[in-house]
Amino acid sequence: MDIQKITVKGGLGKDGRKENVESFDLKIGDIVSIVGPTGCGKTTLINDIELFANQNTPSGRQILINDEVIPEDFSFDPSKHPIALISQHTNFLSDLPVGEFLTIHATVRGAEDIENVVSETISFANKLTGEAIIKETAMTELSGGQTRSLLIADAVIIGNSPIILLDEIENAGINKTKAIELLKGYNKIFVFVTHDPTIALFSDFRIIMKNGAMQKLIQSNEGERATADKLKTMDNIILYYRGLIRAGEEININKLDELSLLLK
Ligand SMILES: Nc1ncnc2c1ncn2[C@@H]1O[C@H](COP(=O)(O)OP(=O)(O)O)[C@@H](O)[C@H]1O
Ligand SMILES: [Mg+2]
Repeated sequence: MDIQKITVKGGLGKDGRKENVESFDLKIGDIVSIVGPTGCGKTTLINDIELFANQNTPSGRQILINDEVIPEDFSFDPSKHPIALISQHTNFLSDLPVGEFLTIHATVRGAEDIENVVSETISFANKLTGEAIIKETAMTELSGGQTRSLLIADAVIIGNSPIILLDEIENAGINKTKAIELLKGYNKIFVFVTHDPTIALFSDFRIIMKNGAMQKLIQSNEGERATADKLKTMDNIILYYRGLIRAGEEININKLDELSLLLK
């Protein structure tokens, strides 16, 4: 199935009242954020998308693909499922080495140049995580950040799913602004559940959740993106200091004053 557009039609919030946002579209190429306090319904919203809800979940939302309702008995070929959901709690059960695991997945997916695809996936993952993954490492031995990075790379390069949903990945120690930059080069739909201002402001638009309901949709603009650029510089300054502290350096204020000029 060639997915060009997903439509999310609003249902009801936790209090049973209609959601403010009646519907929104996700088009190929979009990067979207879902924001709001813990417990406000962010995970529920992306689960509705993953399930292609058809007024059959507690929210009563309905998901359309290319403007069409998905038939009740429709099921995707599991090797071609259009949605990859990467959650905070995803863990690998397999203790295969990374290289073998990816080779099996690439084979199942019918990839052509398997060796190349596997090394491309590992190098993509390594751009996202600070701790390099090698293909001999057992999947079960990867850190949280490595696991999330590998899952994202696997979904983007091997999985070929057009829609990738990421639930609060920033807590897992991956370079999130780098991720956004890299992901922008792929023709997919990315939906980030996030508390991170940089990710939210780099998105094309964001949905604000409250009490289980989609409260508001804010389209990003030039001022927001300029703000995101400065926040990215701040993130990088913090990463730089993290490196120094880890390496046992002593810190003096002059360097920070100098780096702060980058924000002017
Ligand atoms: N529209 C809704 N209708 C009914 N229950 C909801 C709705 N949205 C969220 N919930 C419930 O509220 C709780 C918190 O939602 P969750 O999606 O986990 O929040 P978040 O991911 O923002 O922390 C869950 O138990 C969920 O089932
Ligand atoms: Mg959640």
